[in-house]
Amino acid sequence: MTDAADRALAAQYEAYPYPQRDPAEEARRLVIGSPSHLREVDHWVFGARRPAGRPLRALFAGGGSGDGAIMLAQQMAWAGRPGEVVWLDRSAAARRVAEARAAVRGLSNIRFVSGSLLELPALGLGAFDYVDCCGVLHHLPDPAAGLAALARALAPGGGIGLMVYAPHGRTGVYMLQDALRLLAPPDRPPPERLEVARRLWRHLPETAWLKKNPWITDHLSGGDAGLYDLLLNPRDVAFTVPALLDLLAGAGLRPITFIEPVRYDAARYLPDPRLRERVAAMSWRERAALAEAIAGNMGIHILYAARAEDPPATPDWTDPAAVPVLREVTHGRMAEAAAGGALRVTFDGITLSLPLPRLAPAILRRVDGRRSLGAIRDGLVAEGAEAARAAADLAETCRTLEATNRLLLSAPAG
Ligand SMILES: C[S@@+](CC[C@H](N)C(=O)[O-])C[C@H]1O[C@@H](n2cnc3c(N)ncnc32)[C@H](O)[C@@H]1O
Repeated sequence: MTDAADRALAAQYEAYPYPQRDPAEEARRLVIGSPSHLREVDHWVFGARRPAGRPLRALFAGGGSGDGAIMLAQQMAWAGRPGEVVWLDRSAAARRVAEARAAVRGLSNIRFVSGSLLELPALGLGAFDYVDCCGVLHHLPDPAAGLAALARALAPGGGIGLMVYAPHGRTGVYMLQDALRLLAPPDRPPPERLEVARRLWRHLPETAWLKKNPWITDHLSGGDAGLYDLLLNPRDVAFTVPALLDLLAGAGLRPITFIEPVRYDAARYLPDPRLRERVAAMSWRERAALAEAIAGNMGIHILYAARAEDPPATPDWTDPAAVPVLREVTHGRMAEAAAGGALRVTFDGITLSLPLPRLAPAILRRVDGRRSLGAIRDGLVAEGAEAARAAADLAETCRTLEATNRLLLSAPAG
C-alpha cells in the first residue's frame, strides 16, 4: 500500500538520507546505540543461550544511511562472529551513504538490497534470526502491516528490535509540523520547506513547546536531514506504551523488554509507600504505561520482541558458567560509580538512584567479559566474603545493573 504521503516520504529520504552521515567519519568512530547492539541482541533476544559460533542472519529493514547495520556488522566482525547483515531500504541515496561507510570499514559481512520492507517475500531474502526496524514503522501508511511483514520474516527463535516515536517526549513537535504544513505546504520543493523551517525556528515565540523541550535535538544537531525528518516529515505517528504493545500483539509478537528496562518501572519514580503499593498490584504493561505517563520525557520507545509462539529465552543469571559483560563501561568506572551504595543513572533528565549491595564494587571490578558468575562468586569468597552473602549480593547487583542495560550476559562459546 502506498499513498501521497508515502511518495513524499520516499522523496524526502532521497533528498535527505537519514541520519546525515559523512562516511569519512567511520575512520574515527563507530556510532553505537540501541536497538541492535550485538551485546543486547545476544542477551535480550537470545537470552545469552545462542552460541557465538552459530551464524547470525540479521535484517535492517529501512536501514537508512546505515547506523544500526554498520554497528552490528562491525561488532560481529570485531568479535569474529559468523553471519550476515542485510541492509534493506528503498532510498538509493541512503544506500550510497551506507555502502560508503561499510567500504571505509572494509566490512564484508554486509549485503545491500534496495526495495520495500512491505515486499519482503518477493525479495526472496529468506528467514532472519534478528530483524531491526529503527525509526521506520511510525512513517509507514500502515505500521501494523509493516510489522506483520517483518514478523513473518523471522526464523523460529528469532527476535526483533524496534524503535518508534513516543508522544510525551515529543511535546511541541506535532504543533510545529502543523504550523509548517501551513507555511511550507508539502508540495513545495524540499529545500524551500527547509528554509522556511529554519526561519520559523529563529522567530518562534518563547511559548512554543518545542523551545521548552530539551529532549528533542534533531532539528538543532541533525543537519538538514534531522530538521526535515523532525518537522517536515509527511507522516509520523507516536505510540504510547499500550498502543505499541497492541501493535506487537497484532503482529504475533511478544515483548521481551523495553530499553532501558528500569525507565519503564513506575515504582522507580515513586518513593511514596502508598503509591508504591498501588504500583505493586499492577501488571508489567500497566507499570510501563504509568512510567511513561509520569516521566513525560520519553520521545522514543526501544523494544525487543520475540515471536509469540516461541518459548521465552530468558537470560539465566543463576548459571555459574554464564559470563557477564559491561556494555561500553569499563569495570573500574562502574565499580567506582557503585562505591557509594547506590548507582545514579540519568535518562533524558531524570536521575534515578539505584541501591546496590555492599559487595557491588568488588563484584563489578571482577566483571571483565571473561570471568564467569561462578568465578566472580568464588573470588569474593576467597577474599573473605561469606558464601551466602557473596551469592546474594551478586544476584542483586546483576539484577539492578541488567535493568539499566549496562550489565548483560555474553553469548556462550561454541
Ligand atoms: C528515519 S529513517 C531511519 C534509518 C535507520 N533505520 C536509522 O535508524 O538510522 C527511515 C528509513 O526508512 C526507509 N523506509 C521508509 N519506508 C520504507 C519501506 N516501505 N521499505 C523500506 N524502507 C523504507 C526510508 O527510506 C528511510 O531510510
